Amino acid sequence: MLADKDRIFTNVYGFQDWGLKAAQARGDWDNTKALIERGNEAIIEEMKASGLRGRGGAGFPTGLKWSFMPKESKDGRPSFLVINADESEPGSCKDREIIRHDPHKLVEGALIAGFAMRARAAYIYIRGEYIREAETLQKAIDEAYDAGFIGKNASGTGYDFDVFMHRGAGAYICGEETAMIESLEGKKGQPRLKPPFPAGAGLYGCPTTVNNVESIAVVPTILRRGASWFSSFGREGNHGTKLFQISGHVEKPCVVEEAMSIPFEELIEKHCGGIRGGWDNLLAVIPGGSSVPLVPAEQIRQAPMDFDGLKELGSGLGTAAVIVMDKSTDIVRAISRLSYFYKHESCGQCTPCREGTGWMWRMMERLRTGDAAIEEIDMLHEVTKQVEGHTICALGDAAAWPIQGLIRHFRPELEKRIHEHNAQFAEAAE
Ligand code: NAI
Ligand code: SF4
Repeated sequence: MLADKDRIFTNVYGFQDWGLKAAQARGDWDNTKALIERGNEAIIEEMKASGLRGRGGAGFPTGLKWSFMPKESKDGRPSFLVINADESEPGSCKDREIIRHDPHKLVEGALIAGFAMRARAAYIYIRGEYIREAETLQKAIDEAYDAGFIGKNASGTGYDFDVFMHRGAGAYICGEETAMIESLEGKKGQPRLKPPFPAGAGLYGCPTTVNNVESIAVVPTILRRGASWFSSFGREGNHGTKLFQISGHVEKPCVVEEAMSIPFEELIEKHCGGIRGGWDNLLAVIPGGSSVPLVPAEQIRQAPMDFDGLKELGSGLGTAAVIVMDKSTDIVRAISRLSYFYKHESCGQCTPCREGTGWMWRMMERLRTGDAAIEEIDMLHEVTKQVEGHTICALGDAAAWPIQGLIRHFRPELEKRIHEHNAQFAEAAE
Protein backbone atom coordinates (compact mmCIF):
# COMPACT_ATOMS: atom_id res chain seq x y z
CA MET A 1 0.00 0.00 0.00
CA LEU A 2 1.24 3.50 -0.81
CA ALA A 3 2.65 5.17 2.33
CA ASP A 4 1.11 8.50 3.35
CA LYS A 5 4.47 10.22 2.85
CA ASP A 6 4.37 9.22 -0.83
CA ARG A 7 0.95 10.68 -1.54
CA ILE A 8 0.91 13.67 -3.89
CA PHE A 9 -2.67 14.66 -3.13
CA THR A 10 -2.52 15.11 0.63
CA ASN A 11 -5.82 16.98 0.78
CA VAL A 12 -7.87 14.84 -1.56
CA TYR A 13 -10.64 14.39 1.04
CA GLY A 14 -10.76 18.09 1.88
CA PHE A 15 -9.90 17.64 5.57
CA GLN A 16 -7.81 20.79 5.31
CA ASP A 17 -8.44 24.16 3.71
CA TRP A 18 -7.85 24.37 -0.06
CA GLY A 19 -6.78 28.04 0.05
CA LEU A 20 -3.34 29.45 -0.71
CA LYS A 21 -1.95 29.59 2.83
CA ALA A 22 -2.93 26.01 3.61
CA ALA A 23 -1.67 24.86 0.20
CA GLN A 24 1.68 26.52 0.88
CA ALA A 25 1.83 24.78 4.25
CA ARG A 26 1.44 21.51 2.34
CA GLY A 27 4.39 22.43 0.09
CA ASP A 28 2.70 23.99 -2.93
CA TRP A 29 4.31 27.10 -4.47
CA ASP A 30 7.51 26.37 -2.53
CA ASN A 31 10.25 28.15 -4.48
CA THR A 32 8.56 27.53 -7.82
CA LYS A 33 11.04 29.97 -9.29
CA ALA A 34 13.89 27.50 -8.69
CA LEU A 35 11.95 24.75 -10.50
CA ILE A 36 11.40 27.02 -13.49
CA GLU A 37 15.01 28.17 -13.53
CA ARG A 38 16.04 24.61 -14.33
CA GLY A 39 15.01 25.49 -17.88
CA ASN A 40 12.50 24.22 -20.45
CA GLU A 41 14.48 21.26 -21.69
CA ALA A 42 15.56 20.07 -18.23
CA ILE A 43 11.92 20.05 -17.07
CA ILE A 44 10.79 18.12 -20.13
CA GLU A 45 13.62 15.59 -19.70
CA GLU A 46 12.68 15.13 -16.02
CA MET A 47 9.05 14.49 -17.00
CA LYS A 48 10.13 11.97 -19.60
CA ALA A 49 12.33 10.21 -17.04
CA SER A 50 9.46 10.07 -14.53
CA GLY A 51 7.51 7.82 -16.90
CA LEU A 52 4.31 9.83 -16.38
CA ARG A 53 1.66 8.80 -18.89
CA GLY A 54 -1.40 10.98 -19.49
CA ARG A 55 -4.01 10.54 -16.77
CA GLY A 56 -7.01 11.50 -18.93
CA GLY A 57 -7.48 8.00 -20.31
CA ALA A 58 -5.24 7.52 -23.33
CA GLY A 59 -1.94 7.18 -21.41
CA PHE A 60 0.25 9.04 -23.91
CA PRO A 61 3.69 9.86 -22.37
CA THR A 62 3.41 13.40 -20.98
CA GLY A 63 7.05 14.54 -21.38
CA LEU A 64 7.08 13.29 -24.97
CA LYS A 65 3.89 15.21 -25.73
CA TRP A 66 5.43 18.42 -24.40
CA SER A 67 8.51 17.87 -26.55
CA PHE A 68 6.34 18.13 -29.71
CA MET A 69 5.80 21.83 -29.00
CA PRO A 70 7.92 24.22 -31.08
CA LYS A 71 11.05 25.65 -29.49
CA GLU A 72 10.71 28.88 -31.46
CA SER A 73 7.57 30.79 -32.30
CA LYS A 74 6.72 30.71 -36.02
CA ASP A 75 5.30 33.98 -37.46
CA GLY A 76 4.95 35.34 -33.93
CA ARG A 77 2.26 32.78 -33.11
CA PRO A 78 1.95 32.02 -29.39
CA SER A 79 1.71 28.50 -27.95
CA PHE A 80 -0.99 27.41 -25.53
CA LEU A 81 -1.58 24.86 -22.82
CA VAL A 82 -5.15 23.60 -22.54
CA ILE A 83 -6.04 21.70 -19.39
CA ASN A 84 -8.85 19.23 -19.77
CA ALA A 85 -11.11 19.47 -16.71
CA ASP A 86 -14.20 18.41 -18.66
CA GLU A 87 -14.32 15.21 -16.65
CA SER A 88 -17.41 13.46 -18.00
CA GLU A 89 -16.49 9.81 -18.43
CA PRO A 90 -19.10 7.80 -16.47
CA GLY A 91 -17.38 6.63 -13.30
CA SER A 92 -14.67 9.30 -13.35
CA CYS A 93 -14.55 11.81 -10.50
CA LYS A 94 -10.87 12.32 -9.62
CA ASP A 95 -10.26 15.69 -11.29
CA ARG A 96 -13.20 17.03 -9.37
CA GLU A 97 -11.51 16.12 -6.05
CA ILE A 98 -8.26 17.78 -7.16
CA ILE A 99 -10.05 20.97 -8.17
CA ARG A 100 -12.16 21.32 -5.08
CA HIS A 101 -9.60 20.29 -2.49
CA ASP A 102 -6.14 20.84 -4.01
CA PRO A 103 -6.57 23.46 -6.76
CA HIS A 104 -3.19 25.11 -6.18
CA LYS A 105 -1.43 21.96 -7.32
CA LEU A 106 -3.19 22.41 -10.65
CA VAL A 107 -2.45 26.13 -10.97
CA GLU A 108 1.21 25.69 -10.03
CA GLY A 109 1.45 22.71 -12.41
CA ALA A 110 -0.07 24.85 -15.17
CA LEU A 111 2.65 27.46 -14.73
CA ILE A 112 5.51 24.94 -14.76
CA ALA A 113 4.11 22.88 -17.64
CA GLY A 114 3.28 26.04 -19.58
CA PHE A 115 6.81 27.34 -19.09
CA ALA A 116 8.35 24.01 -20.14
CA MET A 117 6.41 23.96 -23.42
CA ARG A 118 6.88 27.75 -23.94
CA ALA A 119 3.16 28.50 -23.73
CA ARG A 120 1.84 32.01 -23.36
CA ALA A 121 -1.21 31.00 -21.34
CA ALA A 122 -3.20 28.06 -20.00
CA TYR A 123 -6.92 27.58 -20.55
CA ILE A 124 -8.57 25.30 -18.01
CA TYR A 125 -11.75 23.96 -19.61
CA ILE A 126 -13.96 22.83 -16.75
CA ARG A 127 -17.09 20.72 -17.03
CA GLY A 128 -20.21 22.92 -16.87
CA GLU A 129 -21.80 20.80 -14.16
CA TYR A 130 -18.84 21.42 -11.83
CA ILE A 131 -20.34 24.67 -10.54
CA ARG A 132 -18.83 24.80 -7.02
CA GLU A 133 -15.54 23.42 -8.35
CA ALA A 134 -15.38 26.23 -10.91
CA GLU A 135 -15.90 28.76 -8.12
CA THR A 136 -13.07 27.24 -6.09
CA LEU A 137 -10.77 27.05 -9.08
CA GLN A 138 -11.37 30.69 -10.03
CA LYS A 139 -10.63 31.75 -6.44
CA ALA A 140 -7.40 29.73 -6.48
CA ILE A 141 -6.39 31.36 -9.79
CA ASP A 142 -7.16 34.80 -8.33
CA GLU A 143 -5.09 34.00 -5.23
CA ALA A 144 -2.15 32.97 -7.42
CA TYR A 145 -2.43 36.23 -9.41
CA ASP A 146 -2.62 38.32 -6.22
CA ALA A 147 0.48 36.59 -4.85
CA GLY A 148 2.39 37.25 -8.08
CA PHE A 149 2.79 33.53 -8.75
CA ILE A 150 1.17 33.83 -12.19
CA GLY A 151 0.62 36.76 -14.54
CA LYS A 152 3.37 39.22 -15.43
CA ASN A 153 6.81 38.09 -14.24
CA ALA A 154 5.23 34.89 -12.86
CA SER A 155 6.86 33.85 -9.56
CA GLY A 156 9.65 36.33 -10.19
CA THR A 157 10.99 34.41 -13.17
CA GLY A 158 10.62 37.16 -15.78
CA TYR A 159 8.18 34.89 -17.63
CA ASP A 160 4.62 36.15 -18.30
CA PHE A 161 1.96 33.51 -17.99
CA ASP A 162 -1.82 33.77 -17.72
CA VAL A 163 -4.31 31.18 -16.57
CA PHE A 164 -7.92 31.39 -17.75
CA MET A 165 -10.83 29.23 -16.69
CA HIS A 166 -13.51 28.39 -19.25
CA ARG A 167 -16.74 26.64 -18.33
CA GLY A 168 -18.21 23.96 -20.59
CA ALA A 169 -21.92 23.57 -21.21
CA GLY A 170 -22.60 19.91 -20.55
CA ALA A 171 -21.44 18.15 -23.72
CA TYR A 172 -19.39 14.98 -23.15
CA ILE A 173 -17.76 15.31 -26.54
CA CYS A 174 -16.07 18.57 -25.52
CA GLY A 175 -13.73 16.39 -23.42
CA GLU A 176 -12.22 15.17 -26.70
CA GLU A 177 -9.23 17.44 -27.15
CA THR A 178 -9.97 18.89 -30.58
CA ALA A 179 -13.68 19.37 -29.77
CA MET A 180 -12.51 21.19 -26.67
CA ILE A 181 -10.35 23.46 -28.81
CA GLU A 182 -13.28 24.17 -31.14
CA SER A 183 -15.46 24.95 -28.14
CA LEU A 184 -12.83 27.30 -26.68
CA GLU A 185 -12.79 29.10 -30.02
CA GLY A 186 -16.53 29.69 -29.61
CA LYS A 187 -17.64 27.09 -32.13
CA LYS A 188 -19.81 23.98 -31.84
CA GLY A 189 -17.80 21.32 -29.98
CA GLN A 190 -17.06 18.84 -32.75
CA PRO A 191 -13.81 16.87 -33.02
CA ARG A 192 -11.32 17.63 -35.78
CA LEU A 193 -9.54 15.05 -37.84
CA LYS A 194 -6.05 14.19 -36.52
CA PRO A 195 -3.37 14.74 -37.78
CA PRO A 196 -2.61 17.56 -37.52
CA PHE A 197 -2.26 17.02 -33.79
CA PRO A 198 -2.80 20.08 -31.56
CA ALA A 199 0.97 20.53 -31.12
CA GLY A 200 1.06 21.44 -34.83
CA ALA A 201 -2.25 23.30 -35.13
CA GLY A 202 -4.37 23.69 -32.02
CA LEU A 203 -6.16 26.60 -30.36
CA TYR A 204 -6.65 29.43 -32.90
CA GLY A 205 -4.35 27.45 -35.20
CA CYS A 206 -1.46 27.85 -32.73
CA PRO A 207 0.70 25.09 -31.23
CA THR A 208 -1.23 23.63 -28.30
CA THR A 209 -0.88 20.82 -25.82
CA VAL A 210 -3.96 19.41 -24.14
CA ASN A 211 -3.31 17.68 -20.82
CA ASN A 212 -5.62 16.22 -18.20
CA VAL A 213 -5.97 17.87 -14.75
CA GLU A 214 -4.24 15.03 -12.88
CA SER A 215 -1.33 14.97 -15.37
CA ILE A 216 -0.66 18.66 -14.71
CA ALA A 217 -1.34 18.63 -10.96
CA VAL A 218 1.36 16.00 -10.31
CA VAL A 219 4.07 17.98 -12.14
CA PRO A 220 5.31 20.20 -9.26
CA THR A 221 5.69 17.22 -6.91
CA ILE A 222 7.50 15.15 -9.53
CA LEU A 223 9.99 17.98 -10.04
CA ARG A 224 10.46 18.55 -6.30
CA ARG A 225 10.86 14.88 -5.40
CA GLY A 226 12.55 13.77 -8.59
CA ALA A 227 11.73 11.57 -11.55
CA SER A 228 13.29 8.51 -9.91
CA TRP A 229 11.00 8.87 -6.88
CA PHE A 230 7.90 8.93 -9.12
CA SER A 231 9.09 6.13 -11.36
CA SER A 232 9.85 3.91 -8.34
CA PHE A 233 6.09 3.17 -8.13
CA GLY A 234 4.43 0.75 -10.50
CA ARG A 235 6.37 -1.20 -13.09
CA GLU A 236 8.04 -0.80 -16.46
CA GLY A 237 5.93 1.37 -18.73
CA ASN A 238 3.39 1.99 -15.96
CA HIS A 239 5.02 4.27 -13.44
CA GLY A 240 3.92 6.55 -10.66
CA THR A 241 1.03 7.02 -8.32
CA LYS A 242 -2.54 7.29 -9.58
CA LEU A 243 -5.92 8.40 -8.35
CA PHE A 244 -8.30 5.45 -8.52
CA GLN A 245 -12.04 6.10 -8.32
CA ILE A 246 -13.91 3.05 -7.13
CA SER A 247 -17.70 3.04 -7.39
CA GLY A 248 -20.46 0.48 -7.44
CA HIS A 249 -20.84 -2.63 -5.32
CA VAL A 250 -18.01 -2.29 -2.85
CA GLU A 251 -18.53 -1.66 0.85
CA LYS A 252 -16.93 1.81 0.75
CA PRO A 253 -16.69 3.54 -2.62
CA CYS A 254 -13.86 6.07 -2.66
CA VAL A 255 -11.26 8.06 -4.56
CA VAL A 256 -7.79 7.01 -3.44
CA GLU A 257 -4.22 7.60 -4.54
CA GLU A 258 -2.31 4.37 -4.91
CA ALA A 259 0.79 3.04 -6.59
CA MET A 260 0.23 2.17 -10.23
CA SER A 261 0.00 -1.60 -10.87
CA ILE A 262 -1.57 -2.40 -7.50
CA PRO A 263 -3.49 -5.69 -7.88
CA PHE A 264 -7.25 -5.22 -8.09
CA GLU A 265 -7.93 -7.37 -5.01
CA GLU A 266 -5.50 -5.36 -2.88
CA LEU A 267 -7.02 -2.07 -4.05
CA ILE A 268 -10.51 -3.20 -3.09
CA GLU A 269 -9.60 -4.87 0.20
CA LYS A 270 -7.37 -2.08 1.48
CA HIS A 271 -9.45 0.91 0.53
CA CYS A 272 -13.03 -0.18 -0.14
CA GLY A 273 -13.74 -2.71 2.61
CA GLY A 274 -14.13 -5.51 0.06
CA ILE A 275 -16.83 -6.48 -2.41
CA ARG A 276 -20.43 -6.20 -1.22
CA GLY A 277 -21.44 -9.73 -0.22
CA GLY A 278 -17.88 -11.07 -0.59
CA TRP A 279 -15.68 -12.04 -3.53
CA ASP A 280 -17.97 -14.87 -4.63
CA ASN A 281 -20.60 -12.21 -5.26
CA LEU A 282 -18.48 -10.29 -7.79
CA LEU A 283 -19.81 -10.42 -11.34
CA ALA A 284 -17.66 -8.06 -13.43
CA VAL A 285 -15.67 -4.85 -13.33
CA ILE A 286 -15.31 -1.94 -15.74
CA PRO A 287 -11.79 -0.91 -14.69
CA GLY A 288 -11.26 2.38 -16.52
CA GLY A 289 -14.45 4.36 -17.00
CA SER A 290 -17.30 3.43 -19.29
CA SER A 291 -15.23 3.55 -22.50
CA VAL A 292 -13.32 0.34 -21.78
CA PRO A 293 -14.69 -3.22 -21.97
CA LEU A 294 -15.73 -5.00 -18.77
CA VAL A 295 -13.59 -7.74 -17.25
CA PRO A 296 -15.33 -10.75 -15.67
CA ALA A 297 -14.79 -11.55 -11.99
CA GLU A 298 -12.52 -14.56 -12.51
CA GLN A 299 -10.01 -12.54 -14.57
CA ILE A 300 -9.80 -9.28 -12.64
CA ARG A 301 -8.95 -10.39 -9.10
CA GLN A 302 -5.14 -10.54 -9.39
CA ALA A 303 -4.83 -8.16 -12.35
CA PRO A 304 -2.35 -5.30 -12.00
CA MET A 305 -4.27 -2.04 -12.25
CA ASP A 306 -2.23 -0.37 -14.96
CA PHE A 307 -2.23 0.36 -18.69
CA ASP A 308 -0.51 -2.84 -19.83
CA GLY A 309 -2.03 -5.27 -17.31
CA LEU A 310 -5.58 -4.34 -18.22
CA LYS A 311 -4.79 -4.19 -21.93
CA GLU A 312 -3.69 -7.83 -21.72
CA LEU A 313 -7.20 -8.60 -20.43
CA GLY A 314 -8.75 -6.89 -23.46
CA SER A 315 -9.68 -3.82 -21.44
CA GLY A 316 -7.82 -0.69 -20.30
CA LEU A 317 -6.93 1.56 -17.38
CA GLY A 318 -8.60 4.58 -19.02
CA THR A 319 -9.16 7.15 -16.29
CA ALA A 320 -8.91 4.45 -13.55
CA ALA A 321 -12.61 4.85 -12.81
CA VAL A 322 -13.30 1.38 -11.46
CA ILE A 323 -16.97 0.39 -11.67
CA VAL A 324 -17.63 -2.75 -9.63
CA MET A 325 -20.73 -4.82 -10.36
CA ASP A 326 -21.91 -7.67 -8.15
CA LYS A 327 -24.28 -10.48 -9.08
CA SER A 328 -27.36 -8.35 -8.43
CA THR A 329 -26.46 -6.36 -11.56
CA ASP A 330 -28.46 -6.77 -14.74
CA ILE A 331 -25.31 -6.65 -16.85
CA VAL A 332 -27.18 -6.41 -20.16
CA ARG A 333 -29.22 -3.48 -18.88
CA ALA A 334 -26.07 -1.79 -17.55
CA ILE A 335 -24.31 -1.97 -20.92
CA SER A 336 -27.48 -0.98 -22.75
CA ARG A 337 -27.66 2.13 -20.56
CA LEU A 338 -24.09 2.98 -21.56
CA SER A 339 -25.08 2.53 -25.21
CA TYR A 340 -27.81 5.09 -24.72
CA PHE A 341 -25.25 7.46 -23.21
CA TYR A 342 -23.00 7.25 -26.28
CA LYS A 343 -25.95 7.61 -28.64
CA HIS A 344 -27.01 10.72 -26.74
CA GLU A 345 -23.50 12.23 -26.68
CA SER A 346 -22.49 11.51 -30.30
CA CYS A 347 -21.85 14.85 -32.01
CA GLY A 348 -23.31 13.40 -35.20
CA GLN A 349 -20.71 14.53 -37.69
CA CYS A 350 -19.63 11.07 -38.88
CA THR A 351 -22.10 8.53 -40.17
CA PRO A 352 -20.81 5.33 -38.51
CA CYS A 353 -21.04 6.96 -35.09
CA ARG A 354 -24.24 8.97 -35.63
CA GLU A 355 -26.16 6.03 -37.09
CA GLY A 356 -24.22 3.21 -35.41
CA THR A 357 -24.69 4.39 -31.82
CA GLY A 358 -28.47 4.47 -32.39
CA TRP A 359 -28.42 1.01 -33.97
CA MET A 360 -26.31 -0.42 -31.19
CA TRP A 361 -28.52 1.02 -28.47
CA ARG A 362 -31.74 -0.22 -30.13
CA MET A 363 -30.27 -3.72 -30.56
CA MET A 364 -29.01 -3.69 -26.97
CA GLU A 365 -32.51 -2.82 -25.78
CA ARG A 366 -33.92 -5.80 -27.68
CA LEU A 367 -31.28 -8.06 -26.17
CA ARG A 368 -32.05 -6.65 -22.73
CA THR A 369 -35.67 -7.78 -22.96
CA GLY A 370 -34.77 -10.91 -24.92
CA ASP A 371 -37.05 -9.81 -27.75
CA ALA A 372 -34.46 -10.64 -30.43
CA ALA A 373 -33.27 -13.46 -32.65
CA ILE A 374 -30.13 -15.39 -31.70
CA GLU A 375 -28.44 -14.21 -34.94
CA GLU A 376 -28.76 -10.63 -33.75
CA ILE A 377 -25.96 -11.15 -31.25
CA ASP A 378 -23.49 -11.66 -34.11
CA MET A 379 -25.18 -8.93 -36.09
CA LEU A 380 -24.68 -6.51 -33.20
CA HIS A 381 -21.04 -7.53 -32.96
CA GLU A 382 -20.67 -6.85 -36.66
CA VAL A 383 -22.19 -3.38 -36.23
CA THR A 384 -19.68 -2.59 -33.45
CA LYS A 385 -16.88 -3.60 -35.85
CA GLN A 386 -18.29 -1.29 -38.52
CA VAL A 387 -18.17 1.60 -36.06
CA GLU A 388 -14.83 0.83 -34.37
CA GLY A 389 -11.93 2.55 -36.11
CA HIS A 390 -14.13 4.20 -38.73
CA THR A 391 -14.85 7.49 -37.03
CA ILE A 392 -13.18 10.86 -36.52
CA CYS A 393 -12.77 10.55 -32.78
CA ALA A 394 -12.63 7.87 -30.09
CA LEU A 395 -16.31 8.15 -29.15
CA GLY A 396 -17.20 5.61 -31.81
CA ASP A 397 -14.71 3.11 -30.34
CA ALA A 398 -15.91 3.92 -26.84
CA ALA A 399 -19.48 3.08 -27.86
CA ALA A 400 -18.41 -0.19 -29.51
CA TRP A 401 -16.01 -1.62 -26.92
CA PRO A 402 -18.38 -2.10 -23.93
CA ILE A 403 -20.74 -4.07 -26.18
CA GLN A 404 -17.90 -6.17 -27.57
CA GLY A 405 -16.84 -6.93 -23.97
CA LEU A 406 -20.41 -7.96 -23.09
CA ILE A 407 -20.68 -10.32 -26.06
CA ARG A 408 -17.20 -11.76 -25.41
CA HIS A 409 -17.85 -12.57 -21.77
CA PHE A 410 -21.63 -12.83 -21.37
CA ARG A 411 -22.90 -14.41 -24.58
CA PRO A 412 -24.64 -17.25 -22.67
CA GLU A 413 -26.59 -14.65 -20.66
CA LEU A 414 -27.72 -12.94 -23.89
CA GLU A 415 -28.78 -16.30 -25.38
CA LYS A 416 -30.58 -17.29 -22.20
CA ARG A 417 -32.69 -14.12 -22.31
CA ILE A 418 -33.71 -14.74 -25.89
CA HIS A 419 -34.61 -18.39 -25.17
CA GLU A 420 -36.62 -17.41 -22.07
CA HIS A 421 -38.44 -14.68 -23.94
CA ASN A 422 -39.27 -17.04 -26.80
CA ALA A 423 -40.47 -19.72 -24.36
CA GLN A 424 -42.76 -17.21 -22.62
CA PHE A 425 -44.09 -16.08 -25.96
CA ALA A 426 -44.75 -19.67 -27.05
CA GLU A 427 -46.49 -20.42 -23.75
CA ALA A 428 -48.73 -17.37 -24.09
CA ALA A 429 -49.63 -18.35 -27.63
CA GLU A 430 -50.76 -21.85 -26.59
P1 NAI B 1 -5.35 9.52 -28.41
O1 NAI B 1 -4.63 8.26 -28.18
O2 NAI B 1 -5.80 9.86 -29.78
O3 NAI B 1 -4.41 10.75 -27.98
C1 NAI B 1 -3.80 10.86 -26.73
C2 NAI B 1 -2.98 12.14 -26.71
O4 NAI B 1 -1.75 11.96 -27.37
C3 NAI B 1 -3.64 13.32 -27.42
O5 NAI B 1 -3.35 14.49 -26.70
C4 NAI B 1 -2.99 13.36 -28.79
O6 NAI B 1 -2.95 14.65 -29.34
C5 NAI B 1 -1.59 12.87 -28.44
N1 NAI B 1 -0.99 12.15 -29.57
C6 NAI B 1 -1.25 10.86 -29.94
N2 NAI B 1 -0.52 10.51 -31.01
C7 NAI B 1 0.24 11.61 -31.32
C8 NAI B 1 1.20 11.88 -32.35
N3 NAI B 1 1.55 10.96 -33.24
N4 NAI B 1 1.77 13.11 -32.37
C9 NAI B 1 1.41 14.05 -31.46
N5 NAI B 1 0.51 13.85 -30.47
C10 NAI B 1 -0.07 12.65 -30.41
O7 NAI B 1 -6.58 9.52 -27.40
P2 NAI B 1 -7.74 10.57 -27.12
O8 NAI B 1 -8.78 10.47 -28.16
O9 NAI B 1 -7.18 11.93 -26.84
O10 NAI B 1 -8.34 10.06 -25.73
C11 NAI B 1 -9.08 8.85 -25.66
C12 NAI B 1 -9.17 8.44 -24.20
O11 NAI B 1 -9.84 9.42 -23.46
C13 NAI B 1 -9.91 7.15 -23.97
O12 NAI B 1 -8.95 6.17 -23.71
C14 NAI B 1 -10.77 7.40 -22.74
O13 NAI B 1 -10.40 6.56 -21.70
C15 NAI B 1 -10.48 8.81 -22.36
N6 NAI B 1 -11.66 9.58 -22.01
C16 NAI B 1 -11.59 10.31 -20.86
C17 NAI B 1 -12.65 11.07 -20.45
C18 NAI B 1 -12.58 11.81 -19.16
O14 NAI B 1 -13.62 12.21 -18.66
N7 NAI B 1 -11.40 12.00 -18.60
C19 NAI B 1 -13.86 11.16 -21.28
C20 NAI B 1 -13.83 10.35 -22.45
C21 NAI B 1 -12.76 9.60 -22.80
FE1 SF4 C 1 -18.73 13.02 -33.50
FE2 SF4 C 1 -19.04 10.39 -33.05
FE3 SF4 C 1 -17.66 11.22 -35.14
FE4 SF4 C 1 -16.66 11.55 -32.66
S1 SF4 C 1 -17.04 9.60 -33.66
S2 SF4 C 1 -16.67 13.01 -34.34
S3 SF4 C 1 -18.59 11.95 -31.55
S4 SF4 C 1 -19.86 11.56 -34.78
